[in-house]
Amino acid sequence: MMKANVSNVTAVLLLSAMIAGCGGEQDAAEDTASSSERTEPVWDVKQEGTAAAESMEESAEAAGDAMQEAGDEATEMANEAGEQAREMAEETSQMASEAGDQAEQAMADAAGTMSTDDASASGDSGDPCVVDVEVGDSLAYSVDSISVPSSCASVTINLAHTGSLPKEAMGHNWVLAPADSVDAIGQAGTSAGLENNYVPDDDRIVAATEVIGGGERTSVTFSLDDLEDGVDYAYVCTFPGHWTVMRGPFNVE
Ligand code: CO
Repeated sequence: MMKANVSNVTAVLLLSAMIAGCGGEQDAAEDTASSSERTEPVWDVKQEGTAAAESMEESAEAAGDAMQEAGDEATEMANEAGEQAREMAEETSQMASEAGDQAEQAMADAAGTMSTDDASASGDSGDPCVVDVEVGDSLAYSVDSISVPSSCASVTINLAHTGSLPKEAMGHNWVLAPADSVDAIGQAGTSAGLENNYVPDDDRIVAATEVIGGGERTSVTFSLDDLEDGVDYAYVCTFPGHWTVMRGPFNVE
């Protein structure tokens, strides 16, 4: 846009200079005419006057042509400036569009990285014998059920509390026991108290984590040899009141 202004100014200056130049020629023609009047005979004056008039006419014509030319040139320059401005605008628009695309790509990359983190956090790291389970400030595990291959030498449950409430208010644990014993273990857990992680002294319990609160994580590793064949197992949170809803089947396949 700066370029366009400079071009216009140049055109105007050029035009002004040409008009000034034309005026000068015209004055010279008048001077010639008046000086002739003083020194030459009348017929000569007339003749020279005609010549001067013709000269003036020619000057005027030349001035007109010059103005026309300057005008054309100014128009052309303005057009060029306009075209340059358009090109610059297009380029700017393209750059903005590219920047937008890059920003979008960066956001997509960031989202991709985030979802990768999420995937590994939820146990898709590739080891079927390691299971990541998340809990938060509500009565729910991040998984509805857990299945592990019977070939696992041992199974590890990683429990992460992604909420913010302390374990006294919204604590969670992960306790594995025969499915038909979960209600009794849950009830007994309340009596066991937080100091025992709400885990009662019960031989039917295969594995249990400690109780954790918001921002904390814990894990427990156990052998599938501790599970009896032909028995259905389930996991449960034995925090008071949670065991009625926080539970799911644990399958060995
Ligand atoms: Co719980």
